[in-house]
Amino acid sequence: MSPPPSSLVVLPLLLPLLLAAVSHATANAAGAGAPPPVPTPWPEQFHAVVFTNLTESGGRLQLIDLYYDWPRGRNLNLIRDQLSSDPLYDVEWTNGTSYFFDSGSCRTMRFPVGILPPDWLAAGAVYLGREHVDGFDCHLWTKVDFVWYYEEVATGRPVRWNFFNGMQQHVMSFEVGGVLEDSKWQAPPRCFSGGNADTANAAADGVHGEEAGSVDVMDSMIRFAVAPAAAVAASFDQ
Ligand SMILES: *[C@@H]1O[C@H](CO)[C@@H](O)[C@H](O)[C@H]1NC(C)=O
Ligand SMILES: *[C@@H]1O[C@H](CO)[C@@H](O)[C@H](O)[C@H]1NC(C)=O
Repeated sequence: MSPPPSSLVVLPLLLPLLLAAVSHATANAAGAGAPPPVPTPWPEQFHAVVFTNLTESGGRLQLIDLYYDWPRGRNLNLIRDQLSSDPLYDVEWTNGTSYFFDSGSCRTMRFPVGILPPDWLAAGAVYLGREHVDGFDCHLWTKVDFVWYYEEVATGRPVRWNFFNGMQQHVMSFEVGGVLEDSKWQAPPRCFSGGNADTANAAADGVHGEEAGSVDVMDSMIRFAVAPAAAVAASFDQ
């Protein structure tokens, strides 16, 4: 089984896309009349149930409980693969450490970036107009051809997002302020026992320059997007 995709691999490919998108956005602004709508920032804490379709990226279906907890600097994906009885946890800390574990295995990964900030979509997003998706009237933004984000026009709730890697996520419930008790965030002892702990380093060499702030958000998005696939890889590693 190959190791999980890392930002090391993806980052060099993204820089040209990023620059292209910035010039595209500038061109749009010049010719536009009314300013495009602005994406609603994420609430600082929420719990979402996300139906995930990995068919296009060679995977299956997943049901993910996503707990986003910005004030405490953490994000958790509780991933249930279809017809699997052993859920996978992906606990992401803003200091860059992620723990992927199920009942028998653990993999630790270190990323050079934290979790997504609530306004991650705002900078550099290109508005693509309104679209009817999953039965909802939505605004659609894309960020540097990396993510397509659908937000319900009437409520500002996220409805769906699709990633460059083919992953499609449908938001089934969205509970603002939903938090998970502290004990559930704790990685199990096997993550810390030298013999079993498998540490993969996803540190990127860094892409610096004027767009450094945006690039950090891009890195965080990569971290966010690879989580379900990486967690699947972790489960095969035992
Ligand atoms: C999953 O995605 C594939 C490819 O886009 C699509 O053909 C299929 O209908 C989707 N399955 C579900 C259950 O949404
Ligand atoms: C990051 O925080 C987590 C949770 O407190 C901790 O387990 C981990 O060791 C920290 N990582 C680093 C690199 O300090």
